[in-house]
Amino acid sequence: MLMNERIQELINDQINYEMYSGYIYLSMAAYFESENLKGFANWMKIQAYEELKHAQKFFDYVNERGARVLLKSIQAPKTEWISAKEVFKEAYEHEKNVTARIYNIADYAIELKDHATVSFLNWYADEQVEEEANTLEILQKLEKIGDHMQGLFMLDSELSKREG
Ligand code: FEO
Repeated sequence: MLMNERIQELINDQINYEMYSGYIYLSMAAYFESENLKGFANWMKIQAYEELKHAQKFFDYVNERGARVLLKSIQAPKTEWISAKEVFKEAYEHEKNVTARIYNIADYAIELKDHATVSFLNWYADEQVEEEANTLEILQKLEKIGDHMQGLFMLDSELSKREG
């Protein structure tokens, strides 16, 4: 079954949004590098790479369905933040946006009875539960830490252990 044009468009937009997500997280990594918080930077670099994988998975799916991937320009990310807490607050909000976008595509695929796309998007729905939980967990730790530098450095050391 040929892929519906609107679904193709929505997925192409999502490829762009996943690339943009990667760009945001890489920019957050650059901010943490500049703050000498290497563990936070490590976590964000791995997160940026995860986003590229999400984009790649959509890319492969579009091609598998015999449709066309059309890449668009990627919006420039924000570059400055005031604190690690602000960064993770935004990362968590961003992940909630990603989830809403995935649900929106899934809603349309359900309407079209495009079961292949619905099934494909289930992977992202599950992944988003994890993405939201991961960013929220770190945000909550940062809220507890407050202004205690020692707590911040301990969390930095914990985040340096994340592996891609
Ligand atoms: Fe690709 Fe973090 O969602």
